[in-house]
Amino acid sequence: MKNYINKSAEQGFKIGRQSFSRGIFLAPMEGVTDQAFRLICRNMGADLAYTEFIASEALVRNVEKSKSKMLFYEEERPVAIQIFGGNPDVVAESAKMAEDAGADIVDFNCGCWVKKVVGHNAGAALLKDPDLMVEITEKAARSISIPFTVKTRLGWDADSINIIDIAPRLANAGAQALTIHCRTRSMGMTGAADWSWIPKIKEVVNVPVIINGDVTSCESAERAFIETGCDAVMIGRAAIGNPFIFAQIKKYMNTGILPDEPSPRERIETCIEHLHLSLDSKGNIRGLKEFRKHYSGYLKGMFNSSSVRQKLVVAENPVEIEAMLLEFADYISDLEESLIPVLEFA
Ligand SMILES: Cc1cc2nc3c(=O)[nH]c(=O)nc-3n(C[C@H](O)[C@H](O)[C@H](O)COP(=O)(O)O)c2cc1C
Repeated sequence: MKNYINKSAEQGFKIGRQSFSRGIFLAPMEGVTDQAFRLICRNMGADLAYTEFIASEALVRNVEKSKSKMLFYEEERPVAIQIFGGNPDVVAESAKMAEDAGADIVDFNCGCWVKKVVGHNAGAALLKDPDLMVEITEKAARSISIPFTVKTRLGWDADSINIIDIAPRLANAGAQALTIHCRTRSMGMTGAADWSWIPKIKEVVNVPVIINGDVTSCESAERAFIETGCDAVMIGRAAIGNPFIFAQIKKYMNTGILPDEPSPRERIETCIEHLHLSLDSKGNIRGLKEFRKHYSGYLKGMFNSSSVRQKLVVAENPVEIEAMLLEFADYISDLEESLIPVLEFA
């Protein structure tokens, strides 16, 4: 890679005892970054993978479904468990529960924009109450002996961008890294992420800053490091159905050569591996049901994939599903082979 604004990113950085060099992280995503997907992404080169967000209120009430989101494979380490909430005592108690569950890092969500969360004065709502955000951070960071980190946005809306004021306060309160989703709450998930805030944040804090929003490819990851001096990039939507992106970015950063896209067979084999992990971690019934959303991502762009997808999403036997996927991989390979002579003469 070329010149960095921030040489420290090249030299690496630490969150607590965990060392990273130019981190490539998997974003926390509700309904996506479960144990199975995190392990797939870690094996593909993601340096850190976050759990789905977990309601602190539910954790302290011992809700089983919420507690199960803290489960992880040992091979995933380091593990970052993300929690959300608006009550300092409850967040602190749930942070301790996450530590006791084996987390290496506890991340605090101050960026979720959905009404269900914001309506409970949690997630991005805390951007409207920076004092509370700081109080929670201070209390929770003090309640655990592992790093407490914060993921947030630029501000509530374009007229109230307050990240430059909040970031140093969070760092002083004990946040050991900050992830900035470079949108405001009112943008939700639309519009372009504004990375120009990252260098300004880097100037006012001395903890690692992780950029998030619109890192979708090798080139955009490179651009994020060069243009902003961020310590790490965090990838969300671009990893769905495409965990290969981590290996691709790693390869590109090490060699400067844009890697080939994975073949349809590689995609399908990874889909099968992911399915197996989903069954292993959640049991056959839940594992299969919750995996259904992933077929379309893995099969995206493949000729005639909609017909097999329609069968996959209703199939209930894992052995048959695997057979269907492998048969489709053969079909695509045969198709490609039959097209080679045509393409050579085109
Ligand atoms: C399906 C989905 C679920 C998400 N769930 C969470 C979550 O649990 N916690 C969180 O901090 N952000 C969550 N996000 C936001 C992402 O972590 C990330 O900030 C956002 O997608 C922007 O990054 P991207 O442009 O790389 O996708 C979610 C996003 C998506 C698409």
